[in-house]
Amino acid sequence: MNQQWRLDDGQQTLVLAARSGRLPECVYWGAPLPVTEDLVALHAAYALDVTGGMLDENPDLSLCPQSARSFPGQPGLVLRCTDEIRMLYGLCFVDAQQNGPDLRLSYRDAAAGIDLTFSFTTDPQTHVITCQTTLNTDRPVQVDWLAAPVLPAPQLSDEMIDVSGRWCGEFQLIRTPWSAGLRMREARTGRSGHEHFPGLIVPNRGTTNCQGEAYAFHYGWSGGHRMLAEELPDGRRQVQFGHATNTQAAGTQFQTAPLYITYSNTGLNGCAVAFQRHVRDRIVTDAHPVRPVHYNCWEAVYFDHKLPELQDIATRAAALGAERFVLDDGWFGLRDDDTSSLGDWTVDARKYPHGLTPLIDHIHSLGMSFGLWFEPEMVNESSALYRAHPDWVLGPMDQIRGRQQLVLNMASADVRDYLYDRIAAILSAYDIGYIKWDHNRLLPAPDAAQTHGTYALLDRLRADFPQVEIETCASGGGRIDFGILKHTQRVWLSDSNDALERLRIQHDAALFLPASVTGSHVGPRHCHTSGRTIDISMRAWVAAQRHMGFEMDPRELTDHEAKVLTDVTAWWKANRDWMMRADILRLDSADPAVIAEQQLAQCGSRFVVFAGKAATSAQIQPRPMRLTGLDPAATYCINVINRDHTPGLSRGNPALKSGPLTLSGAYLMHHGVTLPWHFPETMWVLEGTRK
Ligand code: DGJ
Repeated sequence: MNQQWRLDDGQQTLVLAARSGRLPECVYWGAPLPVTEDLVALHAAYALDVTGGMLDENPDLSLCPQSARSFPGQPGLVLRCTDEIRMLYGLCFVDAQQNGPDLRLSYRDAAAGIDLTFSFTTDPQTHVITCQTTLNTDRPVQVDWLAAPVLPAPQLSDEMIDVSGRWCGEFQLIRTPWSAGLRMREARTGRSGHEHFPGLIVPNRGTTNCQGEAYAFHYGWSGGHRMLAEELPDGRRQVQFGHATNTQAAGTQFQTAPLYITYSNTGLNGCAVAFQRHVRDRIVTDAHPVRPVHYNCWEAVYFDHKLPELQDIATRAAALGAERFVLDDGWFGLRDDDTSSLGDWTVDARKYPHGLTPLIDHIHSLGMSFGLWFEPEMVNESSALYRAHPDWVLGPMDQIRGRQQLVLNMASADVRDYLYDRIAAILSAYDIGYIKWDHNRLLPAPDAAQTHGTYALLDRLRADFPQVEIETCASGGGRIDFGILKHTQRVWLSDSNDALERLRIQHDAALFLPASVTGSHVGPRHCHTSGRTIDISMRAWVAAQRHMGFEMDPRELTDHEAKVLTDVTAWWKANRDWMMRADILRLDSADPAVIAEQQLAQCGSRFVVFAGKAATSAQIQPRPMRLTGLDPAATYCINVINRDHTPGLSRGNPALKSGPLTLSGAYLMHHGVTLPWHFPETMWVLEGTRK
């Protein structure tokens, strides 16, 4: 019995096929196939030859490759039960259900007592396919590894792109050539992590941001993942994603996190747009559509909270255009530095003798909403909570500390109830619209139950306080993934408020994240984490590329800086309605010193280009900047809106220096825009409207 199933979303077709009731293989994934395609013929065409030094048949590269079926690479399932080191399993077809966008395929090994189910859901609007593997067993087993549906990687690809990073240096893209054997990434710190963001992009040869084919993967899980990208001896390639190994307790029910996949024939941008839209329209469905301008006081006052100063700062932030004031770390317990009080979520009466009301009332009187910092999953030994419940700590007491703190065991209902009660008490006592939810240390050991516990607490709080948006922060971008974004509405992308570093970080993060969830703040003139001094214009425009906010002490601003910031903020507010729903398209910059992107309204009627000059160019003149995604036959009026920042050393008269231009989409995409000369560490902002 041979079987075939196809999934289509208008941008991609995925065909699964199985021989003799065995587990299915993905026999096609790519550009849409004709509806008339003969799947039986396609399945037959997929079969490979056999030659010397091989088995007499090619083992299936199935949705769960099996060692027991001679698969010559990494298997998709490794489990143990008490009486055997490794169980061999022969899974047979049970059932297939295909209803509209959903496909569900079930398999069982009756002798081993194992049920395995693969599910796929297509989305014709976002073009992201969500897939997941579920395992049920008759008797308790230990699962060392369970992969989400395993997919082939393209043969016409020379390299893969995965994501690394560090504190203040998130979303670093790593390109690794395909070669025989295995590339493995594993996040074993209990968070999705700065170090191993759970994403992979496999471009075909010649693919750039704006053209070519690419396949992208994201594993939506916050507790640490493992990725395998392997080229088999026969040349086939497989991609596996699952939870980090050995992070789940023995049991009878297991499920991978959703694996989000997409195919593009419009370059890396096609994958980026699919993920951006999917995150914004399917995953973060409960964020307020009007994204308020933030003010966050962390880099202004740190732990030194004084009510009159904070009121003064709030007044100045509101005058600059801020709409939400976030009170960061230092308001609770006896928290004068980072050695104490995590867990004691009551207002510090020394700093706030009348509670938070005087501050919140002042903030409300300025027309701003109020947000508050928590780090719920953590405890300091110097805290009332720890003294009362040392047994609530996760891991052994001789573990290495992180930021002088320990982690609470979130799998415990008592711990979650305590945290719920403390946070709910604060949310009930005060008018609070926002939580910055931090997570500043690595776990003593990765543990899936910890992540499930955190998700449960977030869900309970969101259900009871639906008006309170939550930002995921973990020393900046240490816990960013589609799993946590199902429970939160914004990410704190990085602790780096250095505009140069941010320009690069948010450019690369846009492969996965939309502007509407990506926090970006104007930092101090002298950056606290890099020591760099950056002009206010660059700082303001970089923040204006995403969900804008401020984090500097507004008392440091000169009149000129305040004016620039006020103007850019007003521009952002005037444009946020369409920009926060726009597609971020990374441009193929001819000049490696320039990091540029085009935010294109979904209807195509307008766009804005941010061309950030991150370094001094090798050549004298700016190279033309090719735009993308426009209608070649349409004409567009383009205008540099910050030309008043042109330096004196720009002595010529390029047309855009003196006013707008009207040009065809074809010209803008094939020749590109020639911008005026500029200093490094500056940003040109170019608006375009379709005529
Ligand atoms: C780490 C965060 O990333 C910062 O923004 C700030 O909230 C500090 N923690 C507070 O301790």
